[in-house]
Amino acid sequence: MCALILGIETSCDETGVALYDTGKGLLAHTLHSQIDLHAHYGGVVPELASREHIQKLVPLIKKIIQETNIQLEQIDAIAYTQGPGLAGALLVGASVAHALAFALEKPLIGVHHLEGHLLSPLLSEPRPTFPFIALLVSGGHTQLMLVTGIGQYTLLGETIDDAAGEAFDKTAKLLDLGYPGGPALSRLAEQGRPHVYHLPRPMLGSGDLNFSFSGLKTAVLTLVQQEKKKSSMLTMEQKADIAHAFQEAIVEVLAKKALKALKQTACRRLVVAGGVGANQQLRTRLNDEAAKRKIEVFYPPLSLCTDNGAMIALAGSFYLEQAVEAGQGFRVLPRWELGTCSA
Ligand code: KG4
Ligand code: ZN
Repeated sequence: MCALILGIETSCDETGVALYDTGKGLLAHTLHSQIDLHAHYGGVVPELASREHIQKLVPLIKKIIQETNIQLEQIDAIAYTQGPGLAGALLVGASVAHALAFALEKPLIGVHHLEGHLLSPLLSEPRPTFPFIALLVSGGHTQLMLVTGIGQYTLLGETIDDAAGEAFDKTAKLLDLGYPGGPALSRLAEQGRPHVYHLPRPMLGSGDLNFSFSGLKTAVLTLVQQEKKKSSMLTMEQKADIAHAFQEAIVEVLAKKALKALKQTACRRLVVAGGVGANQQLRTRLNDEAAKRKIEVFYPPLSLCTDNGAMIALAGSFYLEQAVEAGQGFRVLPRWELGTCSA
């Protein structure tokens, strides 16, 4: 039997809501991005994020209900991001989800945010089949995982310091590109020239599948300082060349480690998810390398790479049997390892 799931995402700086039908697929999703609110501060201000979620979440739910012409009573279950993320921001989504579920007498599913990202390529056609290697590259995480089924995730490697998205954001900040830096740095990199600067490829020879990106950020800092000694301001051309070198370094490390994971596990499918998965250079590199090796690569739709409610509704749809009743109290899990039980 088909089920209709309302998905709610509020773990960081996007308020996302979606309706997913297990028979018909994604019916609608809507998003409020807080970028403008946080840009002024150069990063996410947790308290402001929570307040903005409070203001936007209920209107977004009303909007999606109206636009799809669906009655709240038709919803079979409510999935919300239970963690990891900012505690206050998570609490907003969890409170609204529990209140709605209580009022409508519908079951609830607390979803792991990373599992949402991990499964988001299943919202695209063609869908990847199991097993696959997942390269999860977001603002908070960089992980390589062997995925053999829903809920069956083996961590193969992860960052020992900064996440890939974090490295993009911090480097963008060094180049005064504003917040969030990833997309801005990536746009600028396209205008940069190759081989003007060379940056290190951290941990490429480490022999394992772990990553480290804080040294890369420091290398950019040193390069910026050196260039500023010659002339006090960086020109836009210099910034573009540095952005190009940075992107090339990070993309090479991500691609080579992902290929190594595929080789080690003899997997023929790669799934890329999380905000950095929107990076065009990364996509091109992975597609080229994979084509040479007859490996299939899957991505979520571009609009669903960054945080959204659709991936939460989808992930929730796989856990309908574990859904719980509202009214039992609740807690969020700001720190939560994927693969460990939430209880
Ligand atoms: O998955 P996401 O929306 O949030 C987390 O769960 O962290 O990822 C956000 C991250 C940010 O660091 C952002 O700069 C990065 O993804 N990002 C990109 C691009 N688009 C978003 N990084 C590089 N290139 C992009 N095109
Ligand atoms: Zn995310």
